[in-house]
Amino acid sequence: LRDEALRELAEAADPARLNDLRVKYLGKKGALTEILRGMGSLSAEERPVVGQIANEVRGAIEQTIEEKQRLFQEQETERRLKAETIDVTLPGRKLPTGAIHPLTRVAREIEDVFLGMGYTIAEGPEVETDFFNFEALNLPKDHPARDMQDSFYITDEILLRTQTSPVQIRAMQAMNGQTPLKIICPGKVYRRDDDDATHSFQFNQVEGLVVDKNIRMSDLKGTLLTFARAMFGPQARIRLRPSFFPFTEPSVEVDVTCVQCGGDGCRMCKHTGWLEILGAGMVHPRVLEYGGYDPNEVSGFAFGLGIERVALLKYGVDDIRSFYLNDMRFLRQFARM
Ligand code: PHE
Repeated sequence: LRDEALRELAEAADPARLNDLRVKYLGKKGALTEILRGMGSLSAEERPVVGQIANEVRGAIEQTIEEKQRLFQEQETERRLKAETIDVTLPGRKLPTGAIHPLTRVAREIEDVFLGMGYTIAEGPEVETDFFNFEALNLPKDHPARDMQDSFYITDEILLRTQTSPVQIRAMQAMNGQTPLKIICPGKVYRRDDDDATHSFQFNQVEGLVVDKNIRMSDLKGTLLTFARAMFGPQARIRLRPSFFPFTEPSVEVDVTCVQCGGDGCRMCKHTGWLEILGAGMVHPRVLEYGGYDPNEVSGFAFGLGIERVALLKYGVDDIRSFYLNDMRFLRQFARM
């Protein structure tokens, strides 16, 4: 029995077979167990002899099984280690990386410039009330200047904001008459325009507002020039043209010299010259009042900057729609800049 068991164990090729053999010899109905159970019928002299032999055999079988188990385990570990080997000398796989959208990039650059000048960033809702979008900005219901901004109305009193200027009122009211107030507000605005190379029903603005004692037009001019130079290079120039906005008096439209920047640096554009990028002016006294300020005590300036306009100029893009189409061939150019 012993020899047969050890031979079979030696031939066992996997853990399952090993287990079967254990049951076969050592299990409840196993061969060895049978022998031990039959010992009762033996004579008193035979019993210890047979018992000793049986125990020896059991010991030998158990030991063999244990050794075999250990061997299987080692083989398994080795197999696994081999399977999981990493060749650290292989070159890495290149992951396609995304890039920041040019409009986002420009918005962030604009934010950086004004954060550097001590402004904080304010926000307001894109779904706005008639009061904040028009009324409090000195555009009563029958005001003809409302035609300048064809609007998407949701109800009579609620619309998609046509400009970021309503945030002026919200920011002023939040100050409870305190000064100084220095904010910018980047965000989306909506107008009922037909899309073409220079118009879109949705675009982006950055609003700016400063309210304090003795804020003057020269502060506005200096701020905008500083901004233009930070954005377009030290050679950039600005030009203020008289204009009209109901919420500023006086009002100006501001052009900057077109400067194109590429891999080889920045240079002035040959053909375009000046491009209008923002509207601005001194905050109208009535608007200050709506914001909770006394126009005899404080004054302020405000501006509204078109992010797309800045991006067109900065990257020499000629169609605003390129920014919205998500054409990879267009967007990839900015990934490398
Ligand atoms: N809100 C104006 C527009 O969208 C721009 C503007 C902002 C003008 C602030 C003056 C002051 O055209």
